[in-house]
Amino acid sequence: MHQLVLLFIALFAPTTPGSLSSGMLSFARNPDQIARFMADPACVDNTANEIVRCNASNQFTWRVATTEVDMGGVRIGAGQSVALFLGAANRDPDVFERPDAFDLGRPNSGKHLSFGLGLHSCLGRQIANLQLKWFFTALFARFPGIRPADEPTWNPNLEFRSLQSLPLRLS
Ligand code: HEM
Repeated sequence: MHQLVLLFIALFAPTTPGSLSSGMLSFARNPDQIARFMADPACVDNTANEIVRCNASNQFTWRVATTEVDMGGVRIGAGQSVALFLGAANRDPDVFERPDAFDLGRPNSGKHLSFGLGLHSCLGRQIANLQLKWFFTALFARFPGIRPADEPTWNPNLEFRSLQSLPLRLS
């Protein structure tokens, strides 16, 4: 019952709108990727992965260490809470080549951690992936020429990364 309530609440979280808006920004700044999206079904299928990799709309999650662990030279004691910065992991240069580039042809975009990991990873992941894929399919069917019209403004919220305003030219 707890999970069902959480699932319902999460439907209204700013995560999906955050990814839709940051995705629009990534495409508007990289028109070559719009062309790839329109030309290559494999790129369409990788779109959700690459959008959430580039901008994790939920920047961090929490875990409590059950045992003492050493991570990259930092000791975490049993029972300590840890904030895990998913957005930073998504741009780890040891995992992703040119991590700051928005590239639909990236072979390992799916290795992002934007939906968390393990037993309590995002329950809405499949829905979110479908929403992203079909949103951009519909958007580019009508407006394939979106470009930035001005500088965007990011919301100041540290946890939920989303845009406050995104001025775009549609054609
Ligand atoms: C792009 C959109 C979304 C992103 C980036 C996102 C991200 C996340 C993250 C990072 C977590 C925590 C995972 C962890 O700690 O390992 C989470 C949990 C969760 N998400 Fe999402 N989410 C998205 C959309 C949705 C949607 C649309 C729903 C519901 C329909 C949803 C339902 C949930 C639920 C129920 C949990 C808690 C799972 C649990 O604790 O067992 N999410 N999400």
